[in-house]
Amino acid sequence: MPRTGEMADFGFQRLPLEDKQARVDDVFRSVARRYDLMNDLMSGGLHRAWKNALVTAVDPPRHGPAVGARPFALLDLAGGTGDIAFRVVEAGGAGTRATVVDINADMLAVGRARAAERGLDDTITFVEGNAEALPFPDRCYDAVTIAFGIRNVPRVAAALVEAYRVLRIGGRFLCLEFSQVDVPGLEALYDFYSFNVIPALGRAVAGDAQAYRYLVESIRRFPPPQAFAEMMRTAGFARVSFQRMSGGIVALHSGWRL
Ligand SMILES: C[S@@+](CC[C@H](N)C(=O)[O-])C[C@H]1O[C@@H](n2cnc3c(N)ncnc32)[C@H](O)[C@@H]1O
Repeated sequence: MPRTGEMADFGFQRLPLEDKQARVDDVFRSVARRYDLMNDLMSGGLHRAWKNALVTAVDPPRHGPAVGARPFALLDLAGGTGDIAFRVVEAGGAGTRATVVDINADMLAVGRARAAERGLDDTITFVEGNAEALPFPDRCYDAVTIAFGIRNVPRVAAALVEAYRVLRIGGRFLCLEFSQVDVPGLEALYDFYSFNVIPALGRAVAGDAQAYRYLVESIRRFPPPQAFAEMMRTAGFARVSFQRMSGGIVALHSGWRL
């Protein structure tokens, strides 16, 4: 890949933009098998409530499509082991379809195995691809989601433009991402937990403290919600808004293609 001289954050390190993806891929290759268990342990199960809030906002039709109408189609970017896709398909009626795109074959392999166990391999499609250059035509999805993925993508602006491009007119983009704690007193506790407990858990459960140190550091480097909302507007989204959850630990961003 040609060198542009641009730099990117990889956690607290700075490196050439072109090198970031390979480093991110190493992280998720290393943690893929224990990824879902670690999410439960690290968040005390809270990630389920955050993801449920996203699924409620996606609002897939519960009674399936009207006769002759096309089924509801979700695209979940950086969808990893498929958590969001499973939840949307289970919340929606018959006919709801989901496509999971992720750049990491190991994360997708876990997702495919989970789909097969649940008998959902015809309903959810797993595609290896880069959120910055999606292998899909324009305007083919009713909703595009990305959960805890966007901060790992080197060219965030390019991924937002792609999300907008593949959305149908009237479709909604939802992005769940860690944010900035806004409750006095919670910050010190959250920092202690993030920088001490999470890497130790990562070492004990996934055998990789460094990967979880990166995940924690990358949260601190992600833009504040107002700045991310501005990036969404620049990509073309309308009615952009965000909602903080759990004292600002997480924010749910929303925008529409109108
Ligand atoms: C923290 S995981 C989130 C997985 C899933 N969305 C969830 O909420 O459980 C981040 C995912 O982003 C993926 N990822 C990183 N860079 C990407 C890119 N450029 N395009 C697509 N996926 C990417 C990683 O492979 C990883 O599976």
